[in-house]
Amino acid sequence: MKPTTRDNRILEGMSTAVLVFNRALQLAYLNPAGEMLLDISVRQARAQGVQDLFPGAHDLEERLRHALGSNHPYTEHELHLQLPSGREIIVDCIVTLLFDPVSGNEVLVEFTQMDRHLRLAREENLLEQYQAARQLVRGLAHEIKNPLGGLRGAAQLLERELANEELKEYTRIIIGEADRLRNLVNRMLGPNQLPKARPCNIHQIVEHVRNLVAAEEHDELLLVRDYDPSIPDFTADPEQLIQALLNIVRNAAQALQGKGQIILRTRTMRNVTLGQKRHKLVARVDVIDNGPGIPAEMLETIFYPMVTGRAEGTGLGLSIAQSLVNVHGGLIECSSRPGHTEFTILLPLEPLDDHGR
Ligand SMILES: Nc1ncnc2c1ncn2[C@@H]1O[C@H](COP(=O)(O)OP(=O)(O)OP(=O)(O)O)[C@@H](O)[C@H]1O
Ligand SMILES: [Mg+2]
Repeated sequence: MKPTTRDNRILEGMSTAVLVFNRALQLAYLNPAGEMLLDISVRQARAQGVQDLFPGAHDLEERLRHALGSNHPYTEHELHLQLPSGREIIVDCIVTLLFDPVSGNEVLVEFTQMDRHLRLAREENLLEQYQAARQLVRGLAHEIKNPLGGLRGAAQLLERELANEELKEYTRIIIGEADRLRNLVNRMLGPNQLPKARPCNIHQIVEHVRNLVAAEEHDELLLVRDYDPSIPDFTADPEQLIQALLNIVRNAAQALQGKGQIILRTRTMRNVTLGQKRHKLVARVDVIDNGPGIPAEMLETIFYPMVTGRAEGTGLGLSIAQSLVNVHGGLIECSSRPGHTEFTILLPLEPLDDHGR
């Protein structure tokens, strides 16, 4: 039976990856969520064998062969599969026999990705905590800002009254330190403007940041582009997104101490839930560096304000980036091991007003 357009629409709209293998265990069908999960197009994947798609997955191949000969659906939780690129995915898997008197039996495989799912759910909880922590820091910054203005003003008045040049040295120190503190407090307060939304293109934003960092760093830092040019334009505040991405890329450059590789990768994802809202299409920007990584005990807290692993850091960069992306209805995730640190910005590709924030 040929799928109706409605069947098609259902398969295309599903967030579960659906794969169908024929009797020879070659791929006969893959839905868009499957393309996304396997990072492969239908055209590339068609007629590939189980081992081509998942190198080393002998158990899975055996199970599918068994499923072809029996009528028992089969389920497996937290199955670890390797993709040809070397990336590992963790999925829940349901295998069912598809009986077809004309073309012979086929097997239907449904994969639900576990790692991203779990991570996103966890990040959602964390997000509320970050917001509470940011609120606290903002409140504190606000309290410091007013008396600081008074302090600086009084030191200036005093300076004018002082006849002795040597004593003026002290008032200059007060004024200089007050200015330093004011800069910090302004950063602690973070972005105080609502996004000014206008149509923009994700690659203009990424290229802008790439140029800025390339100009700051020296020859031994490689900034690699891996763009999906088909990402549609969307409505956002490009200045704010540039700031968010810049904070992430600068951190990567700092972690590499100017020597290593940063990959800037753009992709789209379908049917992603961010916050409470499900989005049909989401832009994903990955910033991947091959630096030393983030220590495991720090990884959980890096989006909190004032958390830093650098002597000269204020620990505000990531917390500001997270809130800038949040006001765009998006989310930043992070995973890290030595040699591979990946920050992912997820941004809904819908007008800003639709985010209900
Ligand atoms: N790509 C990375 N590799 C290794 N560690 C990182 C990376 N990105 C962030 N970190 C760690 O996370 C910490 C927090 O980063 P964040 O940008 O919030 O603050 P900061 O860089 O210390 O200070 P600021 O950005 O305010 O100047 C960093 O100090 C660093 O220890
Ligand atoms: Mg930083």
